[in-house]
Amino acid sequence: MSYIGLNFADIYRRKGTYHIEKRVSSPYIDGYEGLGMVIAVGKKVTKHQLGEKVFFVDVPFANAELVAVPEDHAIEVPNDLDNKVIACAGLQGLTADFLAHDLGRNRPGQNVFIHGISGGVGQILSQMLTADGINVYGVTSTKAKQKVALDQGAKAVFLRTDPWLQNWLERFDTVYDGVGITLEQNIELLKHRGNLVFFGMAGGNPPRVDLVTLLSQSKSILTGDLWDYLTDYWERIARSKRLFNYFTDEKIKVSEPTVFPLKDGILAHKLLESGNNVGKILLKP
Ligand SMILES: NC(=O)c1ccc[n+]([C@@H]2O[C@H](COP(=O)([O-])OP(=O)(O)OC[C@H]3O[C@@H](n4cnc5c(N)ncnc54)[C@H](OP(=O)(O)O)[C@@H]3O)[C@@H](O)[C@H]2O)c1
Repeated sequence: MSYIGLNFADIYRRKGTYHIEKRVSSPYIDGYEGLGMVIAVGKKVTKHQLGEKVFFVDVPFANAELVAVPEDHAIEVPNDLDNKVIACAGLQGLTADFLAHDLGRNRPGQNVFIHGISGGVGQILSQMLTADGINVYGVTSTKAKQKVALDQGAKAVFLRTDPWLQNWLERFDTVYDGVGITLEQNIELLKHRGNLVFFGMAGGNPPRVDLVTLLSQSKSILTGDLWDYLTDYWERIARSKRLFNYFTDEKIKVSEPTVFPLKDGILAHKLLESGNNVGKILLKP
């Protein structure tokens, strides 16, 4: 393994609150995402060979120096992209890809809002939508994060502590919410007939939603989980190619990741939970 990606799902798993895997045995090896080189292949493997650089986003027990990766889960990566960039792009990039292209399906000229725009998913999603001709807006917690999002092409980025909300009610075709506790506010930002794309709980579980109120304004809530979009090898390959094209065409740049030695995983988890990180956190064996 060259780099292992840290994700909220690792925190949910560690706490035993992951909605997909309720129980994990203890002790437990965390981690699902990483980039490395193939140093051994099984006898029946035909899709990969020794020395190939591959990444994966859905293989358990990845917080390790060596990981056994099922053939269909290993994804070949472009040689001209830097290792760190690929490690940042992986899981969060494939998430941004299905949020944009399977759920949001926005048309050029539409206005979208991203809550947590300077996070790992947020940064990639924002630049992907901008590259697709969509006007991107968002909110964040600090001036430094605001600058990152503006430099990446967002039209306007509000600070959470500023009184911006009242001026932007019912202005967006789509609102992307990976924070959870912000759901009600995000519904207010939607135009009538708009879609809220709910994809995570970085800030805590969302409140219950009144469907009758939604119905009266023709607003919809869409949800999705990456695992339901990576159903076989060819899905992984097609979706990764579409994602990496944005990087090789230089339409997406990610901020410098924070890298911790694998042995300092506890510090990495604390940083991700604190919300103070900008962009990706990686572990290096
Ligand atoms: N559905 C899927 O398949 C899928 C796949 C991957 C990730 N996810 C989800 O996507 C979300 C983002 O993941 P990530 O890897 O991008 O994490 P991240 O880099 O830490 O970004 C999360 C952002 O959420 C914001 N945030 C955190 N607590 C908040 C609060 N109390 N109020 C408002 N904003 C808050 C922070 O932004 P500010 O400091 O700027 O507010 C932070 O940058 C997570 O919920 C994760 O579970 C879902």
